[in-house]
This record gives sequence, C-alpha cells and structure tokens, in this order.
Amino acid sequence: MGKKLFITRKLPNEIIEPLQAKYDVEMWDKEDVVIPRHVLLDKVKDAEGLMTMLSEKVDEELFQYAPELKIVANMAVGYDNIDIHAAERANVTITNTPDVLTESTADLTFSLLLATARRMIEAAEYVKNSQWKSWSPLLLAGHDVHRKTIGIVGMGSIGEVVAKRAKGFDMHILYYNRSRKKRVEEELHAQYVSFEELVSQSDFIVCLTPLTNETRNLFTKEVFQQMKSSAIFVNASRGPVVNEDDLYIALVEGEIAGAGLDVFAEEPISGDHPLLQLKQVVALPHIGSATTETRYKMMELCVQNIDRVFSGEAPLTPVK
Ligand code: DGY
Repeated sequence: MGKKLFITRKLPNEIIEPLQAKYDVEMWDKEDVVIPRHVLLDKVKDAEGLMTMLSEKVDEELFQYAPELKIVANMAVGYDNIDIHAAERANVTITNTPDVLTESTADLTFSLLLATARRMIEAAEYVKNSQWKSWSPLLLAGHDVHRKTIGIVGMGSIGEVVAKRAKGFDMHILYYNRSRKKRVEEELHAQYVSFEELVSQSDFIVCLTPLTNETRNLFTKEVFQQMKSSAIFVNASRGPVVNEDDLYIALVEGEIAGAGLDVFAEEPISGDHPLLQLKQVVALPHIGSATTETRYKMMELCVQNIDRVFSGEAPLTPVK
C-alpha cells in the first residue's frame, strides 16, 4: 500500500488519476460542500499528505489526529486557515500556491473595481429585468476610473500587477505596505504613503493584504470616515480585514460611494446579509483566482509539492 493522501474536495480526473497511480488517494467527493470537521479528523488519521482548500481549518487539533502527516498542500496563496506554528511543532511542511494565480487575481480585482465604479452589475440587471425604457443623460451614471487615484493596501505580487493594470488607465498610484518597494516606485511611478494618507487621498482603495493579527479588522468606522465620500472600497484579500458592520454604516450614511467585495468575514455570506441589499455593493463569491487555467495550475503546484515531499525533496513553494 502506497502513502496515503487525503484531498478535501472533489478534483478533476486529470489531476486525480496520476496521483492514484502512485499513492493511496482518498478524496471528499463533493465539489461545493465543505467537508465536515469530524469527517476530516477521521480521514487524516493515517494520512501522510493532505491537500486542503482555504475552507479547512488546519490547527493543533488536526495535527494531533494525524501523527503520520508530512505535508499539507493548501490550494491558495493565503494560508490564514493554517496554524503555522502548530505545523512547525508537529513537523509538518506547509505549502501554498503563490505566483501561478497572481495575474488572474489581479485581473479580477481590477474588474471588480471597474464593475463597481461603472455600476455594471446593476446595469446588466436593469436590461435583463426589462427596466430599460430609453437612453437618458444620467441613466446609471457611475464614476470615472481613468486618471483617478488608486490606493493599494498590501503591495505584494498581486498588488504590483493591479498597479500595472492601473497604470494602463493613467491612474495615480499610492500604496501602503509593510516595507517600501523602490523597484515598484520606479517602474510604476507608485508613491509610498502612510495608511492614513492613502485612505484619505484615494478615489479607489483596494485591499490586497494577507490576513494577519495586524490586518484583522483594519478597515473600521474611523477609517471609512477618513475616506472621500466619492471613494470606492474594493476588497479581494480576506473578509476579516474589514469590519463589515462599519462598512455597511459607511455605505448607508454616504461616507463612501460603493464597495466591490470578493471576500467576506463569513463565507459563503448569507443572501440576506445587509451588505447584499445595497445597490452600491458589488459582491462576488471569492473568485479572485477562478479561471480554469489558473485553478489547474494551482492544483498542479499542490501535486508537485506533495510529490517532492513524499520523495524526500524540498517542496517548490513552502510557507516559511
Ligand atoms: C487565495 O489563493 O488565497 C485566494 O484567496 C483563493 O484563490
């Protein structure tokens, strides 16, 4: 019997079959239902490898159930679902999927900005619902994007590509990051500013920071109050970076003009959540990296990492 690999979501045959030829593979066989915790804990008992989605909590308890575990390959660049310190204590290698999703996620982020600014979802619904009676001067008028100021919070690789997209729209680029990136400043004419300056000067505030203890609840009432009343807030990183009650109040009270959200504090967000009732909110189901090409690359990178760790080699993309 080969090494046991457990996969927490149904993956396509092209990915699974080569794995089955090498390992004893078991998989949660639902595509759109999260594996219940008790099933996961049972399945990891004799697993040496685990491939997870960001919906699975990988913590001390899980490691205690999985004494044979060598690797957790997380199919995401973010790994806030994993307790890295507990993994280190359990001597389990953690890998993620950076780089392969950068461009697709940046495309989605910029599309979300455009869709929110130009009220595209509202306009599409308007046509489909037979509300369109005539062309009229201010019908569904939104906000210009070109030559406006974009403020990127979290200038990682996705942030850099969003800045590149913004440059194509002749935008003035501000950024805030843990550290300055001189190369980005030179190449994209991006300007490093304090968080306070960024939120008060930007027309579009784009959040791309990972979820950490420092960034949890970063966008609160006080921060939204500093924004321009015409500002549009876009979040394509992680929901808990934002206080959603405060965001709702900021939108309802006109402290900001709109929000484009691909991520939420709780996912999936409930259909009756107050934020979803606002027409100035464009909401997407966490699809930043969701193109077929990119999702296959992410799965393949997970497989490569598992193969390497199972054969005693260093993984390609370990989380340090
Ligand atoms: C990630 O990779 O962290 C995204 O949020 C999901 O693709």
